Amino acid sequence: MSMRLPFFNNKKTKLNETPELDTIPKHVAIIMDGNGRWAKKRGLPRVAGHKEGMDVVRQIAKAASKCQVEILTLYAFSTENWRRPKSEVDYLLRLPKEFLHIYLPELMENNIKIETMGYVDMLPDHTKEAVDYAKEKTKDNDGLILNFALNYGSRFEILQAVKQIITDMENDELSFDKLDEQRFSEYLYTTGLAEPDLLIRTSGEKRLSNFMLWQIAYSEFWFTDVLWPDFKEETFVQALDDYQQRKRRYGGV
Ligand code: IPE
Ligand code: IPE
Ligand code: MG
Repeated sequence: MSMRLPFFNNKKTKLNETPELDTIPKHVAIIMDGNGRWAKKRGLPRVAGHKEGMDVVRQIAKAASKCQVEILTLYAFSTENWRRPKSEVDYLLRLPKEFLHIYLPELMENNIKIETMGYVDMLPDHTKEAVDYAKEKTKDNDGLILNFALNYGSRFEILQAVKQIITDMENDELSFDKLDEQRFSEYLYTTGLAEPDLLIRTSGEKRLSNFMLWQIAYSEFWFTDVLWPDFKEETFVQALDDYQQRKRRYGGV
């Protein structure tokens, strides 16, 4: 299937040469980084960067939807982010509620379905309630899946999968021989979701910070120095453009 980005403008290569070069990534995952530095540059408190970043989430969700991306996973809070000052942690954990309060009607209009992944039991009740409400409200939408990684850590995710697997084996609900990569991935938060085709990280950092270690085994990576609050639809399209010019080989030739 040949598909062109709706607002493609700076074409450098012939996108329609082969179908492989012309596909939209089905699942895009983003490590949204640089909010604090964005605020610091302006002499503002770090939380001002988080607030600004919230509106970018909305813009990029709409852009992803327009580009016919099927899943957009956003790293919003890591299991390591608890190490930040309490006031910043509190602010970050209030943001989902604020985001959903302001934008839920718009997400509905755009047929977007909210999902989450992470250790949600540890989140404050107000965060859980806001997220649960939005999930319930958007559950029948069949457009973009907007998947928020909230209190997410890949090592924790893998560890809890291993523990559950051991329990299931002890209870004869899973046999040792049946455990393969496919079965294992069903124990992760991402069960049922395609693996990310494209992983974006903003702010110039080139590390994974405990994000989707299992799922990104064959993802394409795209890094930009742009800080998350400055990340625009154009930057997102640039990443998709770059992705479309790559040749994924999965170890083959
Ligand atoms: C990303 O921005 C938001 C979260 C990690 C929640 P940062 O807060 O990490 O911003 P920098 O990296 O300090 O600039
Ligand atoms: C990763 O960003 C986590 C999120 C974007 C939620 P961090 O800013 O926390 O990562 P490090 O500390 O720079 O690795
Ligand atoms: Mg950071």
